[in-house]
Amino acid sequence: MSALIEWNSVFYTEHQVIDQQHQQMIGLLNALHGCLENTGNSRDLSEQLEALCNFTMEHFATEEQVMAKMGYPHLERHKAQHELLAAKARELNQSSLNGQQPLCCDVTEQLREWMLDHFLGEDRELGLFLQQKSRSS
Ligand SMILES: [Fe+2]
Repeated sequence: MSALIEWNSVFYTEHQVIDQQHQQMIGLLNALHGCLENTGNSRDLSEQLEALCNFTMEHFATEEQVMAKMGYPHLERHKAQHELLAAKARELNQSSLNGQQPLCCDVTEQLREWMLDHFLGEDRELGLFLQQKSRSS
């Protein structure tokens, strides 16, 4: 089974919990991708997608708490990206559950692109802020 995303050191924010959760999100996306490659049945696929969505929501809540606690100046902008993905994921999950749009590699490809963009954009910027904060305290 080929991984859709391999963990890479450029993803490190150096915040332990955030990094662990990012690794778990990658693991869950790779599991969904593996299930698709093995032509898993639609129930398995929905369960995998749901597990990824649920964990991602938990992760967003953690990150938003960290941002609020540390006085991150771009919290609203960052949160808006989370909300966009949450809405998109709910839509994908719903249309796969009701059979409107069966899960296929388009879905994992979209999630992959979003994850990479977000990890290397907003999350990296947050990581740099947190590192500066911890050095100056
Ligand atoms: Fe984030």
